[in-house]
Amino acid sequence: MSGENHSWREEVVQRLREVKYPGFSRDIVSFGLVQDMELAGKELKVKLRLTTPDPSVPEKIGKEIRDCLQGYAPVTSVIVETEVAPPQAIASTGPQGIEGVGKIIAVASGKGGVGKSTVAANLAVSLAKSGHRVGLCDCDLYGPSQALMLGCREGVRVEEGTERILPAECHGVKLMSMGMLLGDDSPAALRGPMVTRFTQQFLRQVVWGDLDLLVLDLPPGTGDIQLTIVQTVALDGALIVTTPQEVALVDARKAIAMFRKVNVTILGVVENMSYFTVPGSAQRHEIFGTGGGRREAERQKVPLLAEIPLDPETRKGGDAGEPVVLASPLGPSGQVFSEFGKIVSKVLFPSISS
Ligand SMILES: Nc1ncnc2c1ncn2[C@@H]1O[C@H](COP(=O)(O)OP(=O)(O)OP(=O)(O)O)[C@@H](O)[C@H]1O
Ligand SMILES: [Mg+2]
Repeated sequence: MSGENHSWREEVVQRLREVKYPGFSRDIVSFGLVQDMELAGKELKVKLRLTTPDPSVPEKIGKEIRDCLQGYAPVTSVIVETEVAPPQAIASTGPQGIEGVGKIIAVASGKGGVGKSTVAANLAVSLAKSGHRVGLCDCDLYGPSQALMLGCREGVRVEEGTERILPAECHGVKLMSMGMLLGDDSPAALRGPMVTRFTQQFLRQVVWGDLDLLVLDLPPGTGDIQLTIVQTVALDGALIVTTPQEVALVDARKAIAMFRKVNVTILGVVENMSYFTVPGSAQRHEIFGTGGGRREAERQKVPLLAEIPLDPETRKGGDAGEPVVLASPLGPSGQVFSEFGKIVSKVLFPSISS
């Protein structure tokens, strides 16, 4: 009897794997939404646990479940029961570490486009170059950049027999991007609770292996996704990237306040696009103002960890998939990023950085 029981479950699970969560290329089984199944006579009951209050989601999933079981003789009617759990219930265990990963830091800013991804990529590569085992996780669902910035063409791999996701590797850095899992579906269609659920699952399902450091490249802002991240993984600290002008600093302050609210240490401020020098000249042109990052760091009583120049080589490195710290390590920006990497290493790993 148990053999028979086993076989209908297997067949049903296999069919449910064809049911995609609306808006995602992932199926409801690998998302962990199917809580239980019972077969009474020919009536199948499927229990789902969703985090979205949007009624169209269980409706769509229910219809697809019925469709995928069409023609499967042991089941003639299907009842789909949906429990809607608030996203916080899933995060209620509190932030946790990640197996095999020593330290986890976030690179964040309030304002968009200030250079978080550039700083995260150069930091990751620079630390990998100096012998650390480093992972980089692009947490920007809406505008992932790291695959491009690290020149990574590998797609997502899923470990056979499990639902665990394996990162790619580029320039000695293990790389994973949330955007890679969305397939062709438009991330713009995702709603808040779906993003929360997806983010939590993602952070738990990637198999990083043994890492000294995992760098999370956050999307701009202080919204749902940033909060979900800080509530899901136990961060060892956050780096706040800003440009020198007031409009960026205002948002940087908000980001600092968010991290402090959830007791995440601010490791320091990184001022990007601090100045521009014409090649061959020592004169600094401070295009976005002077000393904004330093003043804010002082105000917040945190270190200013770097002042990174505005440099076309840095932009080119990003677009070409070879961060400037690798492409031009002895150039002015390469040197600044190397120095920044050493400082971060000293802060995070004081015992190995003499
Ligand atoms: N110091 C720099 N010098 C020259 N170009 C830079 C510098 N920093 C960043 N850039 C360029 O500015 C653009 C935006 O940078 P980046 O994508 O790193 O910002 P971001 O803060 O991650 O943006 P988003 O908020 O969209 O995630 C990129 O084209 C990048 O190459
Ligand atoms: Mg970015």
